[in-house]
Amino acid sequence: MRPLRVLFATPEVEPFVKVGGLADMVGALPKELAALGHDVRVVCPLYGSTKRVGEWRARPESLGVEVGPETRWARVWETALPGARVPAYFLEHDWFFARPEVYSDWPDNAHRFAFLSRAALTLCEQLDWIPDVIHCHDWTVGFIPVLLNTVLRDRPIGRAATVFTIHNLEHQGYAEAGLVSYARLPWSEFRADSLESHGQVNMMKAGLYHATKLTTVSPTYAREIRTAAGGFGLDPVLRFRAADLIGILNGIDAASWDPAADPALPAHYTAADLAGKATCKAALQLQLALHPAPGVPVFGVVSRFVAQKGLDLLAEAMPRILDTMQVQFALLGSGEKHLEEAFRQAARLYPGRVGIGTGFNAKLARLIQAGSDVFVMPSRSEPCGLTQLYAMRYGTPPVVRATGGLVDTVANFEEGIDQGTGFVFQAATATALTDAIGWACATYYDRPEGFAGLQRRGMAQDFSWTRSAGKYVEVYRWAVAARGVAAG
Ligand code: ADP
Ligand code: GLC
Repeated sequence: MRPLRVLFATPEVEPFVKVGGLADMVGALPKELAALGHDVRVVCPLYGSTKRVGEWRARPESLGVEVGPETRWARVWETALPGARVPAYFLEHDWFFARPEVYSDWPDNAHRFAFLSRAALTLCEQLDWIPDVIHCHDWTVGFIPVLLNTVLRDRPIGRAATVFTIHNLEHQGYAEAGLVSYARLPWSEFRADSLESHGQVNMMKAGLYHATKLTTVSPTYAREIRTAAGGFGLDPVLRFRAADLIGILNGIDAASWDPAADPALPAHYTAADLAGKATCKAALQLQLALHPAPGVPVFGVVSRFVAQKGLDLLAEAMPRILDTMQVQFALLGSGEKHLEEAFRQAARLYPGRVGIGTGFNAKLARLIQAGSDVFVMPSRSEPCGLTQLYAMRYGTPPVVRATGGLVDTVANFEEGIDQGTGFVFQAATATALTDAIGWACATYYDRPEGFAGLQRRGMAQDFSWTRSAGKYVEVYRWAVAARGVAAG
């Protein structure tokens, strides 16, 4: 079969700009697809905080983007994903993107990303490179499928099929109705079975209605979002489109996340020889001012501090855990102020037992993955989750709540038969989390053989993208066939 041309349209991509796991996915999957022989490219805005990794060159022509009353001009920078033949284009438009934050609460967010959606398509036309598939990631690029189905339908780019991946249904991109005009979309699309929601524009919904095929990042999440409990108001749309929606588990960049080679670590290790992990633990304890106790289990967290991640449960449970168990915590993240404050308070009350890193710190994130004994991820909802995958690969069995991708990636510890890769709990309560942490703690102290088995099995899992890349190719071909049929 002939190789495919695929454009990834995205608001984030590793290693240039990252807020969360979306960037990891968009930085890794294209490399895997390129290795399979496909022509894959990435387009993303150039933010004030974007890191110019590798060689960059400005394209000679500016890009005229048709949004609002007049054409807006952008400069296009071209580079490549490190270590791969995957061109990456960054759109420089200072008015919209010079600020450092990717999302924040900017009042013009919808305009910024309506611009991105239109610009991504104009860029293909300028490059004279018409993709078979445009792979769109979350609400920011939800207008791409609509543009292709309407105003651009009769142009060559209108042949492109779209695959829309839901990374997180919680963020949908609401905007005033006027965005329709700004994006130069037909007003006939401002209706409930297209892009209208509660009298406003919903950019996620637009993508969900208009994309040729839909995916999300785990099979369990694909089921959850079709229910009222997990659909964040869009479950009717997802039930309507159920036949076009599948869940494909995210992989990890196994070369980048490798405890035997990770340059961020002070020592390396493998499943056969975990000595280096003890060195990482000592370095972590030192860095976060934890007591230098090799025999006390460290429970690690690397996360955005938001309700989705269930860290309020941890904040609530922590005093009791620290009063009744011999454990330490190593936490890294930022977000909701009350959570940051609750963890800081715990660090003050339990000196040497709770260590906190703040802000976005890629190096410390890796040290926590490697130097902790157990990873904690009590998410209320979790589309896939990557940090539990990194943890398992780094020999750090995770404590997770049974939701979304955590169900699909972590098998509960079965003591009797010595199976499983982590500790799974059900209820989103501080008590259930405390019990699970207690269980992990008891396993660590009292059944070291059982604990070592968990580590070994976790490290032996294959979470590489190789497993899932083939599934995306199938979805792309499915989308291309469907688009061809629709085109007649
Ligand atoms: P989400 O995308 O919902 O935040 P994921 O588990 O899919 O959750 O991905 C989170 C990614 O962001 C991981 O690569 C994780 O290491 C990284 N990360 C989260 N918080 C921080 C932080 N404070 N510093 C560095 N990396 C972080
Ligand atoms: C989102 C989800 C997370 C997922 C990531 C990558 O940010 O919250 O669960 O792993 O996207 O798909």
